Amino acid sequence: VRTRVAIVGAGPAGLLLSHLLDQAGIASIVIDQRSRDEIESTIRAGILEQGTVELLDGLGAHSRARTVGHRHDGIELRFEGEGHRIDFAESVGRAVWLYPQHEVLRDLVAARLAAGQDLRFGVTAEGIADAETDRPRVLARDAEGRALEIEAEFVVGSDGSRSVARATVTGSSQGGYFREYPFAWFGILCEAPPSADELIYSNSPDGFALVSQRSDTVQRMYFQCDPDTDTAAFTEEQLWHELQKRVPGTTLRQGPIFQRDVLRFRSFVAHELRRGRVALVGDAAHTVPPTGAKGMNLAIADVRLLAEALRRSLLDGDERGLDAYPETALRRIWKAQHFSWWMTSLLHVAPDATAFDRRRQVGELRSVVESAHGRAYLAEAYTGWPFDA
Ligand code: DHB
Repeated sequence: VRTRVAIVGAGPAGLLLSHLLDQAGIASIVIDQRSRDEIESTIRAGILEQGTVELLDGLGAHSRARTVGHRHDGIELRFEGEGHRIDFAESVGRAVWLYPQHEVLRDLVAARLAAGQDLRFGVTAEGIADAETDRPRVLARDAEGRALEIEAEFVVGSDGSRSVARATVTGSSQGGYFREYPFAWFGILCEAPPSADELIYSNSPDGFALVSQRSDTVQRMYFQCDPDTDTAAFTEEQLWHELQKRVPGTTLRQGPIFQRDVLRFRSFVAHELRRGRVALVGDAAHTVPPTGAKGMNLAIADVRLLAEALRRSLLDGDERGLDAYPETALRRIWKAQHFSWWMTSLLHVAPDATAFDRRRQVGELRSVVESAHGRAYLAEAYTGWPFDA
């Protein structure tokens, strides 16, 4: 089959890209190896930057971020048993929305199908050919094992951290800058009322915890754990004990835990974001640790840039946007890499931390919460840098 833009991966990045291209009158085909049900039910992050919500507003009534999601005007940083509010409204006049990624995906899938998008689930990309020509091709296979070849004018790899497109762009499936962390998050979903009005990011001698939310009756919480932790190794009572001891000074409201997972931490930026007529966006291009909630927002910022660059290239024959895409995208990517690394190191307790490290960390936390400038840096990064900056 032929199309103008072949999009590999129907996550938030790929689906939003197909929407923005469609608005510019550019046809695309989106493929994903997963089923629709799998895509729409995978539990991922929960926080949308203001700019992300504004872009999703372009889906019209299909975006439920403002109606089902909740605006948050601040977060709490908790350490030494005390909470300190970072007031986004006061610091930067911006906000974030708590609206889970799988709900964003449901909105995007519904909007794209309603618009007649060629969106194919269960189709696995196996490689990309002729990347450096003006007719790149995606070589794929459908759920029945039949070969499918998509010939396009441009190919976008929005196929996540195990990207197939990455090898075409960087020359190897691993090619990038990366670091690993000696800890992970144990995440739970539970049936309970919220423990606080806003999210709590808590540092304690026993490690980090994040008290997040999903709704009036379902809560999402995480606690720092060893990356090799087995989710089955804890009883519910033990999980509540681990969580509670990492948020001293607050009392968590408990309830049945119905989901558990371990999230490994990794920072990664691909060495290249484009080769010829193939570009990478989202997790295919970069990964951040979850502290700071930048992952999906960064994917959406890439897409906003690339959609405009493709519009100029495919409608006006102007290649400058595409040529500038890697450099422009990388500026925001490295700011977000720094912020995610910084929030992670600010709040977690490294397994080899000394008494000095521990006291220095509290000094750093105080430098942030006791300074209007410190609070403003955190608020600016968390709510998302303006797109045009
Ligand atoms: C959630 C996840 C994050 O990584 C974060 O920083 C805030 C909230 C969440 O899943 O709710």
